[in-house]
Amino acid sequence: MRRIGLEVLERVLYPVIPVVVTAEHQGRVGGMFAAWWMQASFTPPILAVAIAPERYTYKLVRESGVFAFNLLDFKLVDKAPFLGDVSERLLPGKIREAGLNIMRGEVLGAPLIAEASAAVELELVKVVEAGDHDVFLGEAKAVYTVDDFRGGMWSLETYRPLMYLGRTRRPGPVYRVYLTPRGWEKREIEFAGGKLKPLAEKRVRLISRVEEAVKASSNMEEAVDAVRRILYEEGLDPSDAEYLVEDALRRVKSYRREGQSRS
Ligand SMILES: Cc1cc2nc3c(=O)[nH]c(=O)nc-3n(C[C@H](O)[C@H](O)[C@H](O)COP(=O)(O)O)c2cc1C
Repeated sequence: MRRIGLEVLERVLYPVIPVVVTAEHQGRVGGMFAAWWMQASFTPPILAVAIAPERYTYKLVRESGVFAFNLLDFKLVDKAPFLGDVSERLLPGKIREAGLNIMRGEVLGAPLIAEASAAVELELVKVVEAGDHDVFLGEAKAVYTVDDFRGGMWSLETYRPLMYLGRTRRPGPVYRVYLTPRGWEKREIEFAGGKLKPLAEKRVRLISRVEEAVKASSNMEEAVDAVRRILYEEGLDPSDAEYLVEDALRRVKSYRREGQSRS
């Protein structure tokens, strides 16, 4: 490897499957491509996306508190300029202008792209300032897919996710480069196989011991002391206790929340 300029960092991280973030406020439906997204929590299921305040979609999400992620198949690549280059602010109704239709999510009523291969309805839970973009964290409330998703996995024979490689630079015309992973090789690798297995098992054991200790403690200090002892017994660094307690507390809290919503 050799060191290169930070200004191309974003391209180094590509290719990425962009989502279309859709939202609606006061009857106005909008949507935009976002390459900077991720899953940020398993329980509760939270997705995050970085949106610049300039985007019309930013306003729609902030003001309505509801949004959706939509995943597109490569066959919709011609719609890309509407979603990634043009603003709803300047072209009202651009989703429909793109020849795409809106359907309603069943849980939050979020606007979803009817032609998408998958969509997730999200409730806004937090906005974190990151720099020139804000990170929107949304709790997933419902997920929809076409039949290409079956048996808990995408069938890549039929689903060809649209991917983004970046923008060509001036001088010369600017192109956005989209691609499909057609022909990519698939290989299955066992989870923590071979000599890693005992380590994975030890990890699971430690996590559940810490969790039990946290549940049995009546305050933070007590929990940290208990976890320090566990770490010591396991031959591990006891000064990690506070991190593990914090981690366990978050999980315990989420179980409590689930329990409450069931009752
Ligand atoms: C593939 C692709 C990915 C993009 N990713 C992001 C992103 O993650 N965050 C962002 O704020 N803008 C991103 N953009 C730019 C917006 O999609 C673009 O500015 C869009 O026109 C905004 O539309 P709006 O003003 O209607 O919301 C991306 C554009 C493309 C083409």
